[in-house]
Amino acid sequence: MHQGGGYLLATLLVFLAVFPQPGVMVKQEDFKQCSQSAFCLRQRAYADLADITRASSPSPCELVPGSLDVKSEEGVVTASLIDRERNIPFSFNVNLLERDTARVSIKESRPLKPRYELTGDLALDAKYPASVPVGSVKHHGADTTIRFGKDERNSLLIRSKPFSFELAIGGVPAISFNDKGYLYYEHWRPKKDEEAAPAVENQAPEPEGAVPAAGSTEEKIRNLKENLKKDLWEETFNGKTDSKPHGPASIGFDVSFLGSKNVYGIPQHASDFSLKSTRGPHKAYEEPYRMYNLDVFEYIMDSPMALYGSIPFMMSHKKGATAGIYWMNAAEMWVDVETHGAESVLSKAAEYLHLGHTNTTTTTHWMAESGALDFFVFLGTKPTDIFNSFTALTGRPAMPQSFAIAYHQCRWNYMDEQDVSDVDENFDKYDIPFDVLWLDIEHTDGKRYFTWDPVKFANPVAMQENLASKGRKMVTIIDPHIKRDDNFHISKDFKDKGMFIKDKDGNDFDGWCWPGSSNWIDYTDEKARANWADKFSFANYKGSTPSLYTWNDMNEPSVFSGPETTMPKDALHKDSVEHRDVHNVYGTLFHRSTFQGHLDRNNGKDRPFILSRAFFAGTQRYGAIWTGDNFSKWSHLEASVPMLLTIGSSGVVFGGADVGGFFGNPEPDLLLRWYQVAAFQPFFRAHAHIDTKRREPWLFGEPYTTLIRAAIRHRYKILPYLYTLFEESTRTGNPVMRPMVAEFPKDEKSFSVGDQFMLGSGILVKPVITKEQASVDVYLPSSSVWYDYETFEKASPSSSSGIVTVKTPLEKIPIFLRGGNIIPRRERVRRSSSLMHRDPYTLWVAVDGEGKANGRLYADDGHSYDYQKGDFIDSEFTFSASVLKGRAINTPNLDSAAIKALGCRMERIVLVGLKAAPRRVVVADGGDKLTLQVETRKVSGGLHVATVKTGGNIVIGETWELVIE
Ligand code: GLC
Repeated sequence: MHQGGGYLLATLLVFLAVFPQPGVMVKQEDFKQCSQSAFCLRQRAYADLADITRASSPSPCELVPGSLDVKSEEGVVTASLIDRERNIPFSFNVNLLERDTARVSIKESRPLKPRYELTGDLALDAKYPASVPVGSVKHHGADTTIRFGKDERNSLLIRSKPFSFELAIGGVPAISFNDKGYLYYEHWRPKKDEEAAPAVENQAPEPEGAVPAAGSTEEKIRNLKENLKKDLWEETFNGKTDSKPHGPASIGFDVSFLGSKNVYGIPQHASDFSLKSTRGPHKAYEEPYRMYNLDVFEYIMDSPMALYGSIPFMMSHKKGATAGIYWMNAAEMWVDVETHGAESVLSKAAEYLHLGHTNTTTTTHWMAESGALDFFVFLGTKPTDIFNSFTALTGRPAMPQSFAIAYHQCRWNYMDEQDVSDVDENFDKYDIPFDVLWLDIEHTDGKRYFTWDPVKFANPVAMQENLASKGRKMVTIIDPHIKRDDNFHISKDFKDKGMFIKDKDGNDFDGWCWPGSSNWIDYTDEKARANWADKFSFANYKGSTPSLYTWNDMNEPSVFSGPETTMPKDALHKDSVEHRDVHNVYGTLFHRSTFQGHLDRNNGKDRPFILSRAFFAGTQRYGAIWTGDNFSKWSHLEASVPMLLTIGSSGVVFGGADVGGFFGNPEPDLLLRWYQVAAFQPFFRAHAHIDTKRREPWLFGEPYTTLIRAAIRHRYKILPYLYTLFEESTRTGNPVMRPMVAEFPKDEKSFSVGDQFMLGSGILVKPVITKEQASVDVYLPSSSVWYDYETFEKASPSSSSGIVTVKTPLEKIPIFLRGGNIIPRRERVRRSSSLMHRDPYTLWVAVDGEGKANGRLYADDGHSYDYQKGDFIDSEFTFSASVLKGRAINTPNLDSAAIKALGCRMERIVLVGLKAAPRRVVVADGGDKLTLQVETRKVSGGLHVATVKTGGNIVIGETWELVIE
């Protein structure tokens, strides 16, 4: 199909209007600020009013006396609430669940119509946690304390007037609700009542003629009350009107993290890991954090602006208590963060003395445009407790195929089959490993996904098979906008079946995206999801082969012609659900449906690999995400660390950033430094905009080719360790790339650190983030011993600050091994990861202060679901008293052919941090003792590194012992 010139011109104009070229930074004014999103303005006004009038008029919400009911066996607590000012009744419901979780909902008792609820498996895993019974119940006056959980360690204190509640773990108060009295529910109302706005605005009218003095509190109150009435039934932004046929429906409430200074989560923002204040005297941002999935190219740094994904999950940690909250709501949301007391003398003294408990509390104010007030609270004593309970609820991360965690080479675009073949061959020529070659939108026939450009990609099967012959895969892009074209089978099929999203008048919604005029499939409709999944069958997706995987982009959804470059909120989904109610989950439903398609195409045998740009709570069930259209600037490299830490700590453990930066041309130093960091991040892909210069790893000359090769080879050597970490994530939700606080929950200095990260518990990485940076300061918690990753020398951080300064010439990546860990590796790097699948392993044993270490290796066939039948090796290693032991744990089919087919030999063991040089190393072999070859070297600080060659005498999965004498 070829379009006429007029069509092309129109496409180009829309493209230029909405998708500026490199060098043009995102225009902030294209996206709403809180005051331009009417419900945010209203909710903030309500909170400001509450702050001003709090002493005289606390929250009008009260518990109706005598209404509290405790169903002990079911673990259910219910009560009636009343908003006294507006006379609106609510029902309050708490379900106590396993894993120290509580579900809380507050609903209008007599709503005009039901609210949209994000129920079932749209946001939760199919395995809903079981209820736990209520423990003891104590009434004190009108208030009640309910205990629950193991040994009744948790308590729920419900206060009745004003209504609020508080949850504590082990007697330590952790989290409270409505302490600030920000609970504000915009109840459904008929449009004729428009003028009879919430009663709170109708309180005692100002006496005639009384004009409050400019700048006075009275004037402020009057203005805030005015704001409460703003744009209830319609609003316009940048010339686009949201018709809001159902009127105001927003919900706001406050949650305080008691005694806690740091809160984390609510991605996606280009900001710090420990969230900054957006309210109060110490605010760093004027705007609240916004969660509304948007296509924001070249996003600005250090900002609470919304980006491509949203996860309404937040966690806070202090010594002895960790708490999390997940608001199960996919509407546009804003969150204000305010830390109180951090500046007080008492707090500072407590902090200085590391007393743990300070009088600092962080209050957060949550505001959503619509949907239900239905959230979960998680309690624990360390962040890993919360990762566990949050992902038990929203779904454990999917186990990736082994190729998916290797290196990916992408560009918009590899232009034709020759280009693909050249890139593939050059990797071999320059001896750089890679696993996946990606094709962007230009590979299609006129941006019709599931098709191939008939000239440039005339032989897609042969192209994929050629890559597959070296163990390599291909990924093609499949976006959710469907070109309007009756001759295009996808367009016709979904149109005929009535499965497109409708505009507010009920016609198929028509907007602009890459193909020009397009429609969007309604993935909230189960039947549409199934129909979409079916398009991935090998029969339907012509030219696809089993080594082809998928990239789901533009799924916020990005609509070039829409408000804020997305779908109008009054567009309609199945059952007339407004887009505003499901916006943030839309992209994930698309991702999920693609995932299903990949599962189905192989009868559930092959693990899908699907990359998505938009994400929501639960995305981890379907695959990986990346941080979108970043820029080749040092600041974007720097931001990738806290951004990925936040996303990974919010369940989505498989994330990465475009290496090199999507827009612009990175200087070679920046590109190299980016590779050096990304090689240790979960998803490792280089990508670039179509207008950028080519930047494959060999194009920059020496020393860059050698150093980029070295960085990528680092990645391939740790693949066994990474794969083991991913497997751990599937059971625990622990992020692969971890914030320091997750590994050091007792070390207060680590609580706010977001510019370095742990890969699992054994490797610490600090990025170099400026050009010609001579050194970096790395924080090394004193509870562990640390070794330089390359020299194995013991690090000597300052005893007071814990900081060690590392010199960073271009070849140096500041990485440390944490004593106490055993890291499984494969040191024979080949062209792709699958070619290394049967290679022998090396173990790095880094001892702690007591000369001990432990670790794990998980291995399976790397691509199928047979591991669920027991075809895997899970081996544990311990080193203590100079004996290294290996044994299989949880390996049901150890003697099966499938396990035997895995390469299980260990060829080398490197012992790091030994106090004395070993005289000899022996291994037990059927009663005999075999002496193994060992080479020892002394490193500075008087420690020794011993490299033991096992001579093939150790099989992983068997029980073995190696004695260092
Ligand atoms: C979007 C994606 C980018 C992709 C481009 C063309 O901007 O974020 O990665 O290359 O679209 O498909």
